[in-house]
Amino acid sequence: MEEALTTQCLGEPTEPTNIVIFGAGGDLTKRKLIPALVKMLRCGLLHPESKIIGVLKGRTNEVWLNSLRQGLADYSADTEMNDQQWAEFSFRLKMIDGDLQDEQTYTDLATSLELLDGHINAMFYCAVPPDWYTTVAAGLHKHGLDNESNGFRRVVIEKPFGMDLDSARQLNHDLQALLNESQIYRIDHYLGKESVQNLLVYRFANSILEPLWNRNFIDHIQISAAEEIGIEYRANYYEKSGALRDMIQSHLMQVMTLVAMEPPVEFTADAVRDEKIKVLRAVRHLEPEQVKLQTVAAQYSSGDSDNEKVTAYVAEEGVSPDSVTETFSGVRFYIDNWRWQGVPFILWTGKRLPKRVSEIVIRFRKLPFNLFDTHATPPIANSLVFRLHPDEGIFLRMNAKMPGLTTDTQRMVMRAPYSEDGMDVSDAYEVLIHDVLMGDATLFSRADEVEESWSIIEPILNGWKDRLSVERYRSGTWDIPGMDALFADCVGGWHKPG
Ligand code: BG6
Repeated sequence: MEEALTTQCLGEPTEPTNIVIFGAGGDLTKRKLIPALVKMLRCGLLHPESKIIGVLKGRTNEVWLNSLRQGLADYSADTEMNDQQWAEFSFRLKMIDGDLQDEQTYTDLATSLELLDGHINAMFYCAVPPDWYTTVAAGLHKHGLDNESNGFRRVVIEKPFGMDLDSARQLNHDLQALLNESQIYRIDHYLGKESVQNLLVYRFANSILEPLWNRNFIDHIQISAAEEIGIEYRANYYEKSGALRDMIQSHLMQVMTLVAMEPPVEFTADAVRDEKIKVLRAVRHLEPEQVKLQTVAAQYSSGDSDNEKVTAYVAEEGVSPDSVTETFSGVRFYIDNWRWQGVPFILWTGKRLPKRVSEIVIRFRKLPFNLFDTHATPPIANSLVFRLHPDEGIFLRMNAKMPGLTTDTQRMVMRAPYSEDGMDVSDAYEVLIHDVLMGDATLFSRADEVEESWSIIEPILNGWKDRLSVERYRSGTWDIPGMDALFADCVGGWHKPG
């Protein structure tokens, strides 16, 4: 194996574990999970005796292994391997060819779990479509594979966790009938992003922010994820989901809770999640008549992306030609508590936009009075930007004097890039798999959080349910109908990532 990057080695080593991936023939496994495990192994965060067991159907062991190796080359710039490196890694990979409904699969799995260093620890990762989560949990339970008498047994559940409030409740109910809540890790990869965790450190390890972090100084907050890509090969899922469910209910609302929460009493999973749930409980639910005013839904039409012509959403393979599914969504939320009363939190996301940028913009109130010449560039309201992707870091937009003999002002940006000095930023999946192996659920959603966030989204889904049409925007542009109106009374208006 190649030398590890020192910065990636920060973190406690984990115990030897059987890492079981259900759906190991799928895209998530080769794009994210295997590259993350390779990197963890290289830097000593995955115990070298750990085993990786892939459960999948209909492939030979050889075809499966080849596809994983190809995945490393295709999706993860620094994990391409030569033959010797691959041999050193792949001897710990084992495949079980089995159906998730078939008892034999779990029997085979039971015999494949290895006693490692005196324990049979296992992480079961459900990289399968959501309809299968309960089937897997039931199979594990029935065969005693969730029994923690001789090692930990933890089950990772991917998103989407439900498609609405009822289905999320049902899923929680079904999983909790089979597993202990402490064994369930509902993953949201946004929370594994270094820069999202860094938000907590910036907020609670720096005393200068706290006095400003409230309605007295902040005009509004934008939390966004703009993507250049379209829906790729995921029409089947996306047609039922849309941007609101896909990104806002999960990733962006989770980020909102971290931005808005009170300092927890200690840095433990439940203390942090107790504060996050308080935020969600304080989010005002939209009344039916507010849905039109406080939300935006739009769908991409054809256009240009990265200098190439791209098709409209409705022309994508698998999408119905009269689909009204939104590929862009924006929502203005309010949090009714002492800290945030009256401050709009505007969450927005979209596909086929001009660039891939995800950020949190804290826009401060406007100057009460401008003392300086304004004929050049009038002073702007300050913004503190947490860039989640790309170029992770913090930027403070300020006003400064223009050099020369006048008092004209100019805009300047104080930059604090997160990955200075060649620091390597870990992938979210490395962080989160490591957390599961360490038994740290801080960055995973608890059952009550998921239900609360769906209950906030529910009125919007109801308001949109019977729509017969949807606004359109040209691919590769920021011309989203309704977005300027959504920011109408916000200082500085809509911040389009620059
Ligand atoms: C996924 C969504 O959860 O997150 C995708 O289903 C989206 O639609 C992706 O593209 C974005 O994640 P990232 O880490 O690339 O910003």
